[in-house]
Amino acid sequence: MHIAILGRQPAISIAELERVYGDVSWFSEISALVNADYIDITRLGGSQKAGTVVLQVPGRDWRTASMKIVQHYSGAWAHKEGKITLGISAYGFNEGPRDIQKTGLVLKSKLKSTGTSLRLIPNQESVLSTATSHHNKLGLSDNKVELIVVKGQSGIIIAESTGAQNITALAARDQGRPKRDAFVGMLPPKLAQIMINLAGPLTADPDAELKQPRILDPFCGTGVILQEAGLMRYAVYGTDLVEKMIDFSRTNLKWIQEKDNLDLNVTLQVGDAMTTTWDMPIDAVIAEGYLGQPFSAPPSNSKLVEVRGNTNHILSEFLKNLANQIKPGTPVVLAVPAWKDIDGRFTHLPLITKVDELGYEYIQMRNVRPDQLLYFRPDQIVAREILVLVKK
Ligand SMILES: C[S@@+](CC[C@H](N)C(=O)[O-])C[C@H]1O[C@@H](n2cnc3c(N)ncnc32)[C@H](O)[C@@H]1O
Repeated sequence: MHIAILGRQPAISIAELERVYGDVSWFSEISALVNADYIDITRLGGSQKAGTVVLQVPGRDWRTASMKIVQHYSGAWAHKEGKITLGISAYGFNEGPRDIQKTGLVLKSKLKSTGTSLRLIPNQESVLSTATSHHNKLGLSDNKVELIVVKGQSGIIIAESTGAQNITALAARDQGRPKRDAFVGMLPPKLAQIMINLAGPLTADPDAELKQPRILDPFCGTGVILQEAGLMRYAVYGTDLVEKMIDFSRTNLKWIQEKDNLDLNVTLQVGDAMTTTWDMPIDAVIAEGYLGQPFSAPPSNSKLVEVRGNTNHILSEFLKNLANQIKPGTPVVLAVPAWKDIDGRFTHLPLITKVDELGYEYIQMRNVRPDQLLYFRPDQIVAREILVLVKK
């Protein structure tokens, strides 16, 4: 059994895990239990850390967790050769970093008497940042350990990390791209990974010559989804209304291939998503659709009616056009806009309640409802509502 520490928007993160690993359930508000052999954190946009569950302990206070840690590891690591590097992250407890640190110090002194040497990573906070975990390579070898200790409704879990999200690599993939365009709004690579994973495990069309599953992004812009899908070893197909965007995607994909020494299967074409005929095979469609103009303050009512009508028209026509071309069962993960007003309420696109008429149905998930998949930062007016659909 594994535990995943979920990202800033836990409902979206657990949806991603459920679509990739199937047997997933909430453990606490910020963590999920995953019944799988292994969690590949590098492929997940929504999880910060993952770990193998070592102990499940009844109780809800740090003292109980602390005693168990010292008892278990003073035995397990007694007389161990080589130095152990240890970090401890405590999620959901009231104790501060000093108390967490104290547990490590008690363990260190117990181990010293058996001849085991331990380097304890100092806690500035109750949890180690993903950057600290990653930088110290915690979880990536036998003697570099991060204990992930989580308080949930049903008790406490003590897990050994198997890796943390590499935020440095994600930032480099975002900021290092030669062609960026603030106006079309660049999707964070993390969210692109999440959206690709929400399509679920993909297989190549058995009737096609191409032996790799192929992902279409019909609003490809600067190509973030294509880039992340390529890194996940999918063949990628991007179309966009604007020729400049196709050039940007081409340049960015060339950059990532040279940087990571990859040979991707890429197709790029100019096309209006409302009318284009795409080449087959298409095994999944993942896109951040047209979101309308960016806003730095809530738009006036008349402006909102205009932009909502416009985006709803383009995205509905696109979905209709697509439904006539892809095979039943093809997953379609589409980010559409929703606008936040001054009271923090969202105005949604009319089409989100009409996907049935357009030829799709929502993929049902056990842990979240479709309306929980709303991705936004507190300072943003235009949120991205993620529709996880399947062609009927
Ligand atoms: C929100 S951006 C997508 C950004 C993209 N995810 C990226 O990584 O840069 C929307 C894109 O849709 C394109 N677009 C707008 N209307 C379109 C249409 N009718 N058909 C195809 N593309 C369209 C725009 O040119 C823009 O590049």
